[in-house]
Amino acid sequence: MPDGKIGADPGGPSIYVCAGPGGVGKTTVSAALALGLAAAGGRVAVVTIDPAKRLATALGLQQLGGEPQLIDPRRLQDGGLEMRGELWAMTLDVKSTLDKLIGTLAPDSRTRQEILDNRIYRDLSSAVAGSQELSAVAKLYELHHEGGFDAIVLDTPPSRNALDFLDAPTRLERFLGGRAIGMFLAPGGLAARLVGRPTFLVFSIFARAAGIDLLGDLTAFFRSLAGTIEGVRERARGVGELLRDPAKTSFLIVTSPERDPASEAIALAEHLEDEGMPFGGLIVNRVHMDGLDGHTLEEVKALLAPELGERLAARVADNLADFDVLVRRDEQTIAHMRGAVGDQSPILIPHLDEDVQDIDSLVKVAAHLLG
Ligand SMILES: Nc1ncnc2c1ncn2[C@@H]1O[C@H](COP(=O)(O)OP(=O)(O)OP(=O)(O)O)[C@@H](O)[C@H]1O
Ligand SMILES: [Mg+2]
Repeated sequence: MPDGKIGADPGGPSIYVCAGPGGVGKTTVSAALALGLAAAGGRVAVVTIDPAKRLATALGLQQLGGEPQLIDPRRLQDGGLEMRGELWAMTLDVKSTLDKLIGTLAPDSRTRQEILDNRIYRDLSSAVAGSQELSAVAKLYELHHEGGFDAIVLDTPPSRNALDFLDAPTRLERFLGGRAIGMFLAPGGLAARLVGRPTFLVFSIFARAAGIDLLGDLTAFFRSLAGTIEGVRERARGVGELLRDPAKTSFLIVTSPERDPASEAIALAEHLEDEGMPFGGLIVNRVHMDGLDGHTLEEVKALLAPELGERLAARVADNLADFDVLVRRDEQTIAHMRGAVGDQSPILIPHLDEDVQDIDSLVKVAAHLLG
């Protein structure tokens, strides 16, 4: 981060992707960043994924579907915030995003309905691994091209591997361009050849036993999908390009200063570089600050004693000394990350006493992000 803050630069990137290890504050930072950018005058959308219930309530998000909703400015101004722009927020609903994608890409309404009603599609879309990542990128594409937003902030899902998200468009493209589908759809391809073969018998028996027409379902599914495949591939490619364009996208790596998340954040920075994804800066959340503040325990006791009395001063100083251990641990991890990630002035957000789940505390976090 050039000056340790994110700039609300009108010529700057308009997509911010908050990626990082699980549980470090990605959703919190996404919401706070969007709030801050909107307060500064932008028309901003934030796409959150599984926000904590209280945060969703604070933003008025609990009753929303898969489309961004304008947050009532009065709700935001209650926190003493001057709101000059607009904050739009949504939580990502995986299923409806995929359905909508199929809806826009299917050549006609019959094909569309065929795909949506298909048992395999239903299972696939609600259960397939990575569909959350996929929906996030599909939504991003749609908002970027159709939403008319100055900035879009994208939260990312808590995956064990923070990198899954980045590979979603590539994986989808590979799957759709893969041989399996081609073989199945080709005239005289797998579907045709299976009929009348012993395999088919197996399928039929299975179908009768299970009460489902597996082969029929599969064939119908891939047939109706065939017309949409090119569109979906194109979109996956489009998103891949969008995410690699430094004029449009900035990846913010969010982490906490603990050891494991810190190493994950470093690995993520390396992966971004390998993949040619534009790295915008490091955000270290939940940093312990202000322990003994460079004093010794005895000095702090002596400083506090006139105000608090000997006994209380000793207890407070002991507490601060415990805290100081965390402060120094955080300083060391952050120093290591600076070099390894290649951001000499990361944004540091203090570990707040309370959970960040209302507008007031989001405003506090936003102040650290945007100055
Ligand atoms: N600076 C902070 N000080 C205190 N609590 C915080 C801070 N930032 C976030 N939290 C709290 O930490 C918890 C986790 O935050 P959050 O949900 O944003 O993490 P996440 O990275 O999105 O998690 P997941 O990977 O599960 O999606 C929440 O309860 C949040 O209120
Ligand atoms: Mg989250």
